[in-house]
Amino acid sequence: MIPHRASFPEGFVFGAATAAYQIEGSSFGGAGPSHWDTFAATPGNVKHADSGAIACDHYHRWAEDLDLVKAAGFDAYRFSTSWSRVMPDGVTINPEGLDFYDRLVDGMAARGLRPFLTLYHWDLPAALSDKGGWRNRETCHRFGDFTEEVIRRIGDRVETVATINEPWCVAWLSHFLGAHAPGLRDIRAAARAMHHILLAHGVAIERLRALGQKNLGIVLNFDHASPASDRAEDLRAAAVQDAIFNRWFAQAIFQGSYPDLALEGLAPHLPPRWQSDLPLIGQKLDWLGVNYYTRHIHAAAPDTAWPATREVPGPLPKTQMGWEIYPEGLQGFLTRLERDYTKGLPLYVTENGMANDDHADIPDTVRESFIAGHFQAAQNAIAAGVNLRGFFYWSLLDNYEWAEGYEKRFGLVHVDYNTQVRTPKASWHALQRALARN
Ligand code: FCB
Repeated sequence: MIPHRASFPEGFVFGAATAAYQIEGSSFGGAGPSHWDTFAATPGNVKHADSGAIACDHYHRWAEDLDLVKAAGFDAYRFSTSWSRVMPDGVTINPEGLDFYDRLVDGMAARGLRPFLTLYHWDLPAALSDKGGWRNRETCHRFGDFTEEVIRRIGDRVETVATINEPWCVAWLSHFLGAHAPGLRDIRAAARAMHHILLAHGVAIERLRALGQKNLGIVLNFDHASPASDRAEDLRAAAVQDAIFNRWFAQAIFQGSYPDLALEGLAPHLPPRWQSDLPLIGQKLDWLGVNYYTRHIHAAAPDTAWPATREVPGPLPKTQMGWEIYPEGLQGFLTRLERDYTKGLPLYVTENGMANDDHADIPDTVRESFIAGHFQAAQNAIAAGVNLRGFFYWSLLDNYEWAEGYEKRFGLVHVDYNTQVRTPKASWHALQRALARN
């Protein structure tokens, strides 16, 4: 059973999360092409060559979707603004795009939902991708411009602002592993992106503070790195992956440096004078968002180039993504972040959830127990002294799961992509019971 809200501290925030490209429909409202549109249009990148052109048609159905957030009993809604909708060529404003987000935040206010805004959840305008995207330092300043335009329009009505969603995905997954747009497999591109995405965060924080915006943070993702054995080389493999995934961004932001184990491979490829950007990157934040899904098991791969590691399948039950269900990892990261990095700063779980092969008429009981396990992990962390302030489920709706297309279903609400009919799943009803007041 999902723990009831009464078993969390007073004022704990419960929310549902989405992202623009995954639900809105990038073909509507004068949006320009993003690098996800072009990535999806290239054979082999995305399952069934699916794109976000229509997605959940949230651009037109947003009112119904906000009603579903409210009716579930959530307090807050985490959403993102699409850069290519607001600035179709990366620079020029599309008034229709800003109008859309204006309606959306007013719609939240009308329903008493607290808006948690993420500025960048991956829809980089293709025109900026043409100029090198996150390999190009200029993109960081263009992101600052985008930030200002969004905040001037809706900043008065959002409760919190996150600059970037999951820099590891933006940089490593997309420029080294080649799995997400722009699909590069190049260590130099990856090193540049690892640094520039943090610089973009720093530029945005500076501009947000100058505008007087309050409650600023970033959303980082964490993936528990287990060693395949206790042999020294496997312990090293897990430690290197931990440095790249879990320490690079947090250490830069909260300690003003990069971890040596990651610099071993990346230092030769970082942009010149990267050290001088660290003070901007390490500006004080008001909160940190934590996205957590799973763990991976790492072994040494001595015959490959740095980082010379490979993944080994794990024994635990898996979701539709093939990700092991491991709630202990969430508790572990929350306590580790508090102890080593954030030290009392408010934390939010900004994403956690699972994909399941759901049908509108079959109860997703497995998702209920997934949520129960991760709520419990959050409560254990709170009991251990972590300043955790809220928990957002990923995701409100089944949606465009990036390179996995529409096949993987993370929603509390089922979406029939032929008709766009929304059907709340059993887990939505279970959460509604857990979130009911009195
Ligand atoms: C996260 C992303 C989110 C979604 C979930 C499953 O990495 O932030 O957009 O795809 O994974």
